[in-house]
Amino acid sequence: MADKRAVTMDKIVNLCKARGIIFPGSEIYGGMGNTWDYGPVGVEIKNNIKRAWWKRFVQESENSYGVDAAILMNSRVWEASGHTASFTDPKMDCKECKARFRADNLIEAHSKGKVNPDTMTNEEMEAYIAEHKVACPNCGKHNWTPIRTFNLMFETSRGVTDESQNKIYLRPETAQGEFVNFLNVQRTTRAKVPFGIAQVGKAFRNEITPGNFIFRTIEFEQMEHQWFCKEGTDLKYYEEYKEKAKNFLLSLGFKEEHLRFKDHDKLAHYAKSACDIQYLFPMGWSELNGIHDRTDYDLSRHQEYSGKNMNYLDPATGEHYIPYVVEYSIGADRLMLAVLCEAYEEEELEGGDVRTVMHFHPALAAYKAAVLPLQKNLGEKAKEVYRKLCKKFMVTYDEAGSIGKRYRRQDEIGTPFCVTIDFDTLENNTVTVRDRDTMSQIRLDIDEVAAYIEKAMEL
Ligand code: GAP
Repeated sequence: MADKRAVTMDKIVNLCKARGIIFPGSEIYGGMGNTWDYGPVGVEIKNNIKRAWWKRFVQESENSYGVDAAILMNSRVWEASGHTASFTDPKMDCKECKARFRADNLIEAHSKGKVNPDTMTNEEMEAYIAEHKVACPNCGKHNWTPIRTFNLMFETSRGVTDESQNKIYLRPETAQGEFVNFLNVQRTTRAKVPFGIAQVGKAFRNEITPGNFIFRTIEFEQMEHQWFCKEGTDLKYYEEYKEKAKNFLLSLGFKEEHLRFKDHDKLAHYAKSACDIQYLFPMGWSELNGIHDRTDYDLSRHQEYSGKNMNYLDPATGEHYIPYVVEYSIGADRLMLAVLCEAYEEEELEGGDVRTVMHFHPALAAYKAAVLPLQKNLGEKAKEVYRKLCKKFMVTYDEAGSIGKRYRRQDEIGTPFCVTIDFDTLENNTVTVRDRDTMSQIRLDIDEVAAYIEKAMEL
C-alpha cells in the first residue's frame, strides 16, 4: 500500500488535474478560491465513496433510513439549531496588505501545532498573537485588526420583488434536514427508537482556508447519520459509532496507523461528548470525520422554535420522551482527499523505473477495468468485450500507444484490472486480466471476467 513519504499535496493536486480527477473551479476565469470541479474520473470515485457509505450506514444498518432534504430551509431552522447566533469564525485582517485570516489558524501555524487555539477565548488569541508578534503569512508584517467574528453561513434571499425579499441561508450542514424530518420518518416507517436517519448532500460554509486542496472548501458534501436513542443509552452508542466509523475506513483500505481518535478540547454548543477520527494527511494529522453526542439539544430546540411536539411515544412502556442523538458526520470530499492520499504510491520497479499507482479499493475505483486491444486490428473484438462489461460496471477503453504505456495510464487512475485482447482471444475466447497492484496476469474466458471483477469489488 501507499508509501506515505512519497505523498505530497502538490503531487495529488497535479495528478488530479492531469488525469481528470479534480480541476480548479471556474478555471478559465482564473479560478474561484476554494472551489473545485470533479472531472470524469473524479466524479466516479466520489460517487463510489458515497455509495459505499450509504451501503454501510443505511442498507446494511438495521433500522436506518435515508432522506434527501432541501438545501434551502426555513430560516427559523438555523435560529433553533444555534447557527444564526454562534456559527462563527474568529477573523483578523492584516492592516498592511488587507488579507484576512482565521486567528486560530494563525496561532496553529505559528506554534507549529504545539498550541491549541480551540481552548482559547478571542481575547487570549489576540494576546498570543500580539505577544508572539505573529506575522501575516501574506506580507510578513505584524499589524492586525482586533478579532471580529464572522458567521459562516452564506446568505441569499427569496422572493421576486425587493419588497418581498426574505433572508435565507444555504445550509451549513445536512444534519438539520434529518432533525426536522424526525417525526415524518418515524411515523411513515413506524421505526422504534433506537433508529437512524441518514443523508448525503451539499453544505456550504463561507470559510477562509490556508489551502490544502479539497480539505476545506466553501461548498462540499456531507454524509451524516443521526442515531436517535433513549437518554442513558447515548454514551454506549457513541462508543459504538466510533468503532463503526473506524471500521468503515479500514474496510476501504485505510491503514490503521494512518488513523487516530482525537477528543474535542472545546465542545460545540450542542455536544455532550465529541471526537474526531483524524487521518495522517500530507500536511499532518487532521480531522476526517466527527462523532458527536448531541443529547436532545436539536429536537428540543426544534420543539421550542416550531411549537411541534417532538416527543417519541414508546409503544412498549407508554413513556413519552425526546430522544438523544449520536451523530456521525464525514465530508465526502474530505474522505475523497484521504482516499487519494492513502492510495498514492510511487513504486520502484525492477530496472529502476518508477510507476505512479493509485491503490484504490476496486469498489472505489472510477473504472473497474480497462479494455485494451493488443493491436488496433483487434479493436472489433475488444469493443465487443467492452460492451459486455460496461453493462455490469464502469469500464474504459484504450487503444492508443504501447500496451506498457496504457497500463501506466490505468495505474495512475487506479483501474484495478486491465483486460487485454490478443490474437489468442480470436481463437479461444480468452483474455488476459492484469492486476494493478501485483502486475501479474491470468487468463480467463471472456464469460468469466465480469464475475471475477465483481468479486474483487465487494466491500
Ligand atoms: N453536523 C455536524 C457537522 O457538520 P462538522 O465537524 O462541522 O460537524 C462534519 O463537519 C464533517 O464535514 C467534517 O468532519 C469534515 O469531514 C466535513 N467538513 C466540514 N467542513 C468542511 C469544509 N469546509 N470542507 C470540506 N469538508 C468539510
